[in-house]
Amino acid sequence: MPIRLGPFVRTINKKLLRPILSFLPLPSPYKSPLCLLLLFSHFSSEEFFLLSSPFSHLLRRRSWSSQTVSEMESLGLRAVGSHCSLSEMDDLDLNRALDRPRLKIERKRSFDERSMSELSRHDSPRGRSVLDTPLSSARNSFEPHPMMAEAWEALRRSMVFFRGLPVGTLAAVDNTTDEVLNYDQVFVRDFVPSALAFLMNGESDIVKHFLLKTLQLQDSEKRVDRFKLGKGVMPASFKVSHDPIRETDHLVADFGETAIGRVAPVDSGFWWIILLRAYTKSTGDLTLSETPECQKGMKLILSLCLAEGFDTFPTLLCADGCSMIDRRMGVYGYPIEIQALFYMALRCALAMLKPDGDGRECIEKITKRLHALSFHMRNYFWLDYQQLNDIYRYKTEEYSHTAVNKFNVMPDSIPDWVFDFMPLRGGYFVGNVGPAHMDFRWFALGNCVSIMSSLATPDQSMAIMDLLEHRWDELVGEMPLKICYPCLEGHEWRIVTGCDPKNTRWSYHNGGSWPVLLWQLTAACIKTGRPQIARRAVDLIESRLHRDCWPEYYDGKLGRYVGKQARKYQTWSIAGYLVAKMLLEDPSHIGMISLEEDKLMKPVIKRSASWPQL
Ligand code: GLC
Repeated sequence: MPIRLGPFVRTINKKLLRPILSFLPLPSPYKSPLCLLLLFSHFSSEEFFLLSSPFSHLLRRRSWSSQTVSEMESLGLRAVGSHCSLSEMDDLDLNRALDRPRLKIERKRSFDERSMSELSRHDSPRGRSVLDTPLSSARNSFEPHPMMAEAWEALRRSMVFFRGLPVGTLAAVDNTTDEVLNYDQVFVRDFVPSALAFLMNGESDIVKHFLLKTLQLQDSEKRVDRFKLGKGVMPASFKVSHDPIRETDHLVADFGETAIGRVAPVDSGFWWIILLRAYTKSTGDLTLSETPECQKGMKLILSLCLAEGFDTFPTLLCADGCSMIDRRMGVYGYPIEIQALFYMALRCALAMLKPDGDGRECIEKITKRLHALSFHMRNYFWLDYQQLNDIYRYKTEEYSHTAVNKFNVMPDSIPDWVFDFMPLRGGYFVGNVGPAHMDFRWFALGNCVSIMSSLATPDQSMAIMDLLEHRWDELVGEMPLKICYPCLEGHEWRIVTGCDPKNTRWSYHNGGSWPVLLWQLTAACIKTGRPQIARRAVDLIESRLHRDCWPEYYDGKLGRYVGKQARKYQTWSIAGYLVAKMLLEDPSHIGMISLEEDKLMKPVIKRSASWPQL
């Protein structure tokens, strides 16, 4: 068990002392008294941090006693405090689960080796954010931007309470319009950046309550007309309704049955699992994810995706508008956003599921699916200069296992813009791959989540960042970040969106710029050791977002105009900014929302050679 050093030591950060002492050539019984002696004698906490900073690399690696770590590992999860290295964050090793020999792959300098020092230039030793919150302190920190105080205030104004407990944040608190629509609800996907901001600030209660409330909602009966939805479906959003007569609150959820287009949110369940892991990682509290309710909730979500059927691909087939892009936008079939979230949720669940009863069976299914899914995505969704050239030269109508052009993609269907867009260095996961179908559009969320989850190999992650730098004007322009690139226009817009007036060219989901995506971009930058890219994006946000009252999205080729129908005081724009700032301030927060490489990586196999190995 960890040594109990009492509240005084805890405020300084008990995790810092133990590892330092463990390097001293002393038998461990002496270390705990020595620790206390050190604390009570010479050093103030600030001095202690100064003294210990040269050892920060070691501290990050050795922040848990080996016994604690092994206890947690035996439960399939590693505890990581807010000071941790990516090497500590390695979840249940897929290799072990599959019982395969490890394949050593060549990779560039890892995050640990290269960038902790670069990244921690602005580290806050307290691992908390600054400003306007009882738990944060500006001491020992770089000068905070005044926007952060405003952002915390606005985030707190959006908090929703159920019977006195905080359970989420409203999608928007826009007093400039009467047109509320459904922005007065707590959206599962929208709450994720709020939750991360609260976790990074040491406020985990709201996240725990949210996870438990949405889990209860999963249990309710969901119908669209006379058709019943699967048990595992998680709500898109919920609302707290107050009964003034009985003086009680109750929750009303939407599972897609009242949403535009009547589509169930496939992403909600994945975000729920990802958030459960973030909560567990951040707090070290294993008791929540281990409850029979949470274990069951995860299994129900996954049973919707892991059921055997007619599928010939390991990717998840879904309807248009089932995620952040919740309107018809030609993202049906196998959209990258869902595949990346699916992969990440599978890996998070693998780290949290208990191998008992049906848990074991679920773990086996996940492991096999991950193996096939990563192979499929890394090979068939990946596009770079070389791959584009190969597709350009594809033969069609190939039969049998020797086919190179497996999905019969017609080279004529490659849009002209891709040839100009694709740099010689760089690449990305395309929007969709299906029979005779390749959607070449670049989507921000799918590519960033691919990096965070390590669905992208280290080389692919670097290439995604290279492309982003190369195509900065197109993908970032004046406001981070384009939801997708390029937009649909003219005839294509009419056919693909069904003439949607909200999704006109360079607006909203059709090439609009969404400030919320800043946090995902920042996480990807930190994971790949390129924080300077995120800092550039943050500068752009800081030059406008507050002045424009935190809009939901911006329009135009450069993202210069506040979106036609954008809400103001959109909560995830606010929370996304806070998360990005806190990630840059203390990059070790990345552990909450990042997964280390799964070590299953194989060298990229040529399409023609892949069949015998699958
Ligand atoms: C819009 C977005 C959706 C978001 C919702 C609430 O419908 O498309 O992704 O969850 O607003 O902010």
